[in-house]
Amino acid sequence: MDTGRIGILTGGGDCPGLNAVIRGVVRRALADDVHVLGFKSGWQGLITGDVEPLTRLSVAGIQFRGGTILGTSRTDPFATAESLAQIRENWRKYGLQALVVVGGNGTLTVAKRMFEEQGYPVIGVPKTIDNDIPGTDFSFGFHTAVQVATDAIERLHTTAESHHRVMVIEVMGRHTGWIAAYAGIAGAADFILVPEVPFRISRITEALANRRGMGRPHSIVVVAEDAKPHDDEDFLTESQKTTIYREERLGGIGHLVAREIERLSGIESRVSVLGYIQRGGSPNAFDRILATRFGVKAVEMVLEGQFGRMAALSGTSIVDVPLTDAVNGYKYLDAEFYRHAEIFFG
Ligand code: F6P
Repeated sequence: MDTGRIGILTGGGDCPGLNAVIRGVVRRALADDVHVLGFKSGWQGLITGDVEPLTRLSVAGIQFRGGTILGTSRTDPFATAESLAQIRENWRKYGLQALVVVGGNGTLTVAKRMFEEQGYPVIGVPKTIDNDIPGTDFSFGFHTAVQVATDAIERLHTTAESHHRVMVIEVMGRHTGWIAAYAGIAGAADFILVPEVPFRISRITEALANRRGMGRPHSIVVVAEDAKPHDDEDFLTESQKTTIYREERLGGIGHLVAREIERLSGIESRVSVLGYIQRGGSPNAFDRILATRFGVKAVEMVLEGQFGRMAALSGTSIVDVPLTDAVNGYKYLDAEFYRHAEIFFG
């Protein structure tokens, strides 16, 4: 018996675990004879009517795969009145009763507006390797990205030690330092520079001198892509800042940190920018489980009529929180966590 039809879309950057959410949604929905339509390439698919029915067979085994079988985009349906009108038409055409929106800050902000301003029954699922969405202890994708970054940092120890160099590794995370701090601790970094705490390069070079005195001239410095020098010791030009800290694409601070460390300390320094490798490939077990549970929860929220809310992790429980809380700024790195990381600096 067909008792309903819900839609699902994935928006923003790809992220390990998206397919596990899709499978979780489909399997939980089918248990109540609810059918699921997958809209392609984020909001774009709902605008153009690019859609595929998702069946038990079409989602079989996809939880192991990275990326999203639905494709993704950063399309904003509020960009034109025409897009919103097309969505209204498609919503009717496909007989949707609810929409599950899987995304990060940008996509969930649109979901909230769709609920509040346009009256659509929408449920959010928090996705991002950056772990910066308020209201949930973790977003899926984060732990996989941390593992990738940790493995990379561990490998850099070899070159740092053999060549007596400073190895700087730039990691993702947009405006927060979660990936840098977690992977930095796990990979035994000697310094971790995060956006939440402006850094003083002199502190690093002094510690490097101490390390050299101990017979350990090599070091590993993890730099989050939005890390910034303290005003007291700002070595970046205005034009460098404009290039590095672009809202749409951050990147480049690692090279400038390495150059400044080499200039001040005389120790040969090299850089690795980890980039998209951090969000590619198969999700780890933690993210598969979290994403699956989020998918199941999202459908249960639909069945209970809990619209305008987001599935979230609180401790070990899957709960739901208002979308308004989730898109209210960023969840910044915990100060206590960074304080613990600092114990191992130098
Ligand atoms: O939000 C996830 C993320 O991978 C960030 O860590 C990074 O800054 C950004 O996306 C890159 O975005 P894009 O895919 O548009 O280059």
